[in-house]
Amino acid sequence: MTRSVSRRAVIAGIGAGVAAFSLPRLPVLAAAPDFRSLKAAPATANLIAGGPGSGENNTAVWAYDGSVPGPLLRARVGERMRVRFENALEQESSIHWHGIRIDNAMDGVPGLTQDPVMPGGSFDYDFALTHPGTYWYHPHIRSSEQVGRGLHGILIVDEETVLDVDQDILLVIDDWRITENGQIHDQSFGALHDAAHSGRLGNWLTVNGASEPHFKVGAGERIRIRLVNVANSRIFQLDAAKLGARVFGVDGHGLETPEIPVDPVLLGPGQRADLIFDVAAGVDEISLDDVSTDEPVTAARFTLARDAMPARSRPPLDSLSLPRFAPEPDMANARRIDLKMEGGAMGGLATAMLDGEQMSLRDLAQKGYVWAFNGKVGRMHDRLFEARHGETIAIEFINETAWPHAMHLHGHHFKVLTRDGELAPDPGFRDTVLVGPEQRVGIAFVADNAGKWMLHCHMLEHQASGMTASFSVA
Ligand code: C2O
Ligand code: CU
Repeated sequence: MTRSVSRRAVIAGIGAGVAAFSLPRLPVLAAAPDFRSLKAAPATANLIAGGPGSGENNTAVWAYDGSVPGPLLRARVGERMRVRFENALEQESSIHWHGIRIDNAMDGVPGLTQDPVMPGGSFDYDFALTHPGTYWYHPHIRSSEQVGRGLHGILIVDEETVLDVDQDILLVIDDWRITENGQIHDQSFGALHDAAHSGRLGNWLTVNGASEPHFKVGAGERIRIRLVNVANSRIFQLDAAKLGARVFGVDGHGLETPEIPVDPVLLGPGQRADLIFDVAAGVDEISLDDVSTDEPVTAARFTLARDAMPARSRPPLDSLSLPRFAPEPDMANARRIDLKMEGGAMGGLATAMLDGEQMSLRDLAQKGYVWAFNGKVGRMHDRLFEARHGETIAIEFINETAWPHAMHLHGHHFKVLTRDGELAPDPGFRDTVLVGPEQRVGIAFVADNAGKWMLHCHMLEHQASGMTASFSVA
């Protein structure tokens, strides 16, 4: 069963009711000098204007500094990011900085790189921004619920020389599972049915925490768009062709040649895309639509409501580029690792190993596990490999399941080399790659960032139910 995103209707059968929570009392923490504070706490948001049970600001969420998405963190490459994270939730949390090449101790993975941040506690994140790009941040514990309730925000690291554009527009795309009362459907957090299928899909689409945001543009303007998919599990397909946009980068890393999208831009959970287009004269409004479901849904609208730009000489769109920084893998000396993905509904997985014990799928399901990597239910401490510093690692993702997965590697960007054995068309470097049902995808990267890193499916319900592993770099 797939849920479609719709503005008009909520899925029937979803009951009402969101548990009340009270704000724990916290000691007042004075942020250290130069640290910006960022607090996770219950809040309300105006997510569903015009939707079910709508009213101003009446959806209970969990948010960073009271807003969904959280505050935009932005700095220039070469600077440091210093954030004092304060946890005002009633459960443990952390902040993971998705996609960025970061110091391992700052990667925000409880159990691997730090202790969980307890309710009322705090953690100082302090790291160098060594590479530019569009990144995001989110908790890395109980992520399905915490991200699903609204904890996510964007981190932009500006290039040394910022591209010359007239507007730089961020579009943070999310889907929510909303009840008839306009509240987050919280009884289905942790549902095994979602975990065994395509993850927790929502029935309400938001962009930047709102419905169909609307941007004013002028003819002749050059517009940069940063798309970020923060949904728990939904794969969006954005029809960028209408805008005449080119894709210049994916997952924060520049493409060698800008891509003219003929098909909709596929954006799996966690993925980003950097697009640029020149606004043509003569159209009043252009929409950017998600066409991943039967019925296209408008994600954002661009209205010609600003003065036309005076004619001026400008480098042609195709001559622009975004920085590329990931080292080229050395395939002649690569170490090859197969990662067989198994399980899920219609997957035919009979048994798998959990913590050293061979168990039937039925027993595993009782414990909340339905997926396996190489015959083992994936756990954070399963080291898939230990790399020497600078070693090229080539991983073949072998998807033997009936579902797509968004495989994400921490701390590194990798190159997508092959799909089903065929050379992949110049995909650039990514940190998250979609692997289709029954598909094989070959990637490679230079393991040059020391520490313990996760490798998992970014469909957060799959991650929680067995699609998790880690690796280390000496
Ligand atoms: Cu965006 Cu391991 O996560
Ligand atoms: Cu998955």
